Amino acid sequence: MNYQFDPDLPKASTIPSFYYADASVFERENRNIFARTWQLAGRADQVREAGQFFTITIADEPLLIVRGADGELRALSNVCRHRAGPVASGEGKRPVLQCGYHGWTYGLDGRLLQTPEMAGIECFDRADFSLPRFRVEVWNELVFVNLDPAAATLGDFLGDLVSRLAPRDYAGYQLAARKDWTLNCNWKVYVDNYLEGYHIPIVHPGLFRAIDYPNYRTETRANYSIQHAPLRRPARLRVNDSADEIDYFWIWPNLMLNVYPDNFSTNLIVPLGPEKTRTIFEWHFRDFDTPDVRQRILETVAFSDEIQFEDIDICQAVQRGLRSSTYDSGRYSPLRENGVHHFHGLYAAAMF
Ligand code: FES
Ligand SMILES: [Fe+2]
Repeated sequence: MNYQFDPDLPKASTIPSFYYADASVFERENRNIFARTWQLAGRADQVREAGQFFTITIADEPLLIVRGADGELRALSNVCRHRAGPVASGEGKRPVLQCGYHGWTYGLDGRLLQTPEMAGIECFDRADFSLPRFRVEVWNELVFVNLDPAAATLGDFLGDLVSRLAPRDYAGYQLAARKDWTLNCNWKVYVDNYLEGYHIPIVHPGLFRAIDYPNYRTETRANYSIQHAPLRRPARLRVNDSADEIDYFWIWPNLMLNVYPDNFSTNLIVPLGPEKTRTIFEWHFRDFDTPDVRQRILETVAFSDEIQFEDIDICQAVQRGLRSSTYDSGRYSPLRENGVHHFHGLYAAAMF
């Protein structure tokens, strides 16, 4: 029987534990969620110039993001039309793309150009063997891909989040630091945990001292939510005295955007298996080649590490708890867990 989401939070129960460990649920999530939503794939500065490319796999789909000679950014299938070899690997810059198996070459626009030693083949027109294309869009210097040809545009999907973040100019920001971790938990355990401040007093004593916990609140919108964390002690979080709040944005289904006055970071939550998840953190700063900013980056990453280690421990413990025969599903705090409830509503709508 499928999970029945109750939109009435005070009466609702959380997603049953079965959905946090089952292999067929995981496959269904790939098809129904990750292959149909806008997924953060990389950064615009990786594909600024013609021929620059990077590769990534989203929902089991190997992809090649490449800037064409015509200036257009394309998301192409990274699967060779010959015998499914990899057209490109890693990232770099090339005038043409040569498959790493038998050397067929493709143009930057995905057209098949050269097919060595295929003389004698019949009924074969190279024009029929271009690399398939997917949707790609850039927002705030971040490259997003959507595998669903029928999906809404990224702008329509994000809705008023676009205007909400518009006063900020993201142009000068560059990747300053990157870290990733592999966790033994379902991706939803990590997202659930991110979406509430309820655990901060117990799990994150350091963060708890820095924020004004009683006034922490979560606002939910169509496809995203925002946690507003008013600050009590701005110094530890390295924000300007003028800033009195940090905003933690979550974008359905698996992207977090943590916005500080002088930097922002993305956390991408990548499901690797029913009980395995990778979290990728990237920090973007401006002018980071000055000693002052370099110092701020070190402190920002160190503080984030402290919180992340605390979150990893609790998420992995929760995953073990979800496997218990005694637990199936729980209840939401109406005061503190509206963000989790909102996520579960989007989840149910996509899955069932
Ligand atoms: S699989 Fe690409 S050339 Fe053979
Ligand atoms: Fe946390």
